[in-house]
Amino acid sequence: MAEHVRVLLKEEDVDRRIQEIGDQISKDYEGKQVHLICVLKGGAFFMCELAKRITVPVSLDFMSVSSYGSATKSSGVVKIVKDLDEPLKDKDVLVVEDIVDSGRTLSYLLEMLKDRGPKSIKLCTLLDKPERRVVDVDVDYTCFQIPDEFVVGYGLDYDQRYRNLPYIGVVEFD
Ligand code: IMP
Ligand code: MG
Repeated sequence: MAEHVRVLLKEEDVDRRIQEIGDQISKDYEGKQVHLICVLKGGAFFMCELAKRITVPVSLDFMSVSSYGSATKSSGVVKIVKDLDEPLKDKDVLVVEDIVDSGRTLSYLLEMLKDRGPKSIKLCTLLDKPERRVVDVDVDYTCFQIPDEFVVGYGLDYDQRYRNLPYIGVVEFD
C-alpha cells in the first residue's frame, strides 16, 4: 500500500513552541540544575532541541523502554531495554517524551523513576493526544495537543521510518 505524509505542524511552528517551553523551563528551574531524561528513540530529537534552549545548567541521561504491540498501538506491557547510566538521587529530573498517548508507558515509567529518590520529577512532552488517555498522567509541559491521528516526524516513527522529518505529519495511505 502506498503512503504519504500530510504536514500537521510545520517545522517553524514546532521550533517556536520548543523555544517557548525552553524559556518556561529555564524560568521554573532558576538557580537549579535540571537533569533531562530522554526516552529513546522517539524523545531524542525533541530533547536535543529542547536542551539547546534551556539556559540553566543541564545534565542528560537516556533510557529505552519498549511497549509490546502492533506498529500503531501500545499494549501496556512495558520492558526496560536500556536503563539510565546515573542514579537520580536528589536530582531535579525532567522526563522528556515524544508523545503521551494512552499514558500507559509513562505512568509505569514515572512510578519506577520516583522510587529512585529524585528531589523532584516532572514531565515534558512534545505531543499529547488527550482523547486517547487510558491511564491518568500529570504532564507539566506540553508543546502541542493533537487530535487522535497517528503522527510521525521529529523523532516519531512509523515502523522505524520518518523519525528524521523536521516537522510533524500524519501518515496517510493511498
Ligand atoms: P502510550 O500509549 O502513551 O503508552 O504511548 C507509548 C508510545 O507509543 C509513545 O511513546 C510512542 O513511542 C508511541 N506512539 C503513540 N502514539 C504515536 C503516534 O501517533 N505516532 C508514533 N508513535 C506513537
Ligand atoms: Mg516514546
